[in-house]
Amino acid sequence: MSFKKDFKIGNLKLSHNIIYAPLAEYTDFSYRRLLRNFHTGLMFCEMIKMEALIREKSTKLLEYTKDMKPIGAQLLGANPNVAQDAAKKLEDLGFDIIDFNSGCPVPKVVKDGSGAAMLKNPKLIFDVLEKIIKAVNIPVSIKIRLGWDDNSIVAKEIVRIAKDVGCSMITIHGRTKKQGYSGRANWQAIKECKEVAKNDILVIGNGDLYCIDDVNSMFDLTQADGVMIARGMLSSPWLSMGVENCFTKKKQPKILRKEVLLKYISYLIEEKREKAVFDLRRISGWFLRGFKDIKYLRVGINAATHIDEAIKLINRFNWEEE
Ligand SMILES: Cc1cc2nc3c(=O)[nH]c(=O)nc-3n(C[C@H](O)[C@H](O)[C@H](O)COP(=O)(O)O)c2cc1C
Repeated sequence: MSFKKDFKIGNLKLSHNIIYAPLAEYTDFSYRRLLRNFHTGLMFCEMIKMEALIREKSTKLLEYTKDMKPIGAQLLGANPNVAQDAAKKLEDLGFDIIDFNSGCPVPKVVKDGSGAAMLKNPKLIFDVLEKIIKAVNIPVSIKIRLGWDDNSIVAKEIVRIAKDVGCSMITIHGRTKKQGYSGRANWQAIKECKEVAKNDILVIGNGDLYCIDDVNSMFDLTQADGVMIARGMLSSPWLSMGVENCFTKKKQPKILRKEVLLKYISYLIEEKREKAVFDLRRISGWFLRGFKDIKYLRVGINAATHIDEAIKLINRFNWEEE
């Protein structure tokens, strides 16, 4: 498969087959607003714990506006009955797709058997997915890693489970839990999952997509039905647009990083006011690359205690590319 316009996940129609990943503490309301300036495809909110979703009346993590659609929510947890209620709630909130997280490696997540710990319990994955699928009419997907470690690779087994239970899509992050986010993602393993899936369930490849060439190479190598961009969208929120323009032979518009950053800051100020500078610090490590002396701007933003200080530094910076 390659980049493709008009992509369908179950009954969900999408403009193309590039998906923007859930990224906890990054793909919040403001960043998703920024992404929507460039990305027309499916994007996800940050993961949310099933129990918290059931307990709380409303949650900031799941706020969205209509123009952020198509939008997905992602559930984290390990209890099939809670999953069922949580899924129903997500459907009522208007989400277009529900993803089940079976890959988060964070210690406090795996400690209670959720996230990547689910990879040790494929039967429980089946049970949770079954409950979610029965509870809703929107498409359901799962996102996994290859396995807990190199000695316990289960990706192909989970592909079969997801297919049998009736999932519409499986996203495969080509790393093990033990790898965390380091080392190269294993695209060959994603290719093998696609071979197992045949055309019975959509396979989405994920891991190490930072530029247009990476995306095209992943399509070529894995033959996946689609790809999911994660950290790459923190440094280049316009990456999917770049792939689309390249495919349709449209000229790439000149994107001014400074202007994009200022737009993001304006969203942060509307959303976070006094706290805007803290969110900016988090993103700037990813976003501010490729310019001479950019590290001084990053250091300045990290030291700024008010967003106005950061804006002054950004306006004073020499934005000539290296
Ligand atoms: C800061 C951070 C937060 C993440 N949050 C989530 C999350 O909420 N749900 C999820 O399924 N994966 C999450 N991931 C994993 C990514 O979605 C993705 O699978 C992983 O980063 C591999 O893709 P990449 O190498 O292109 O970044 C997170 C990753 C990072 C670095």
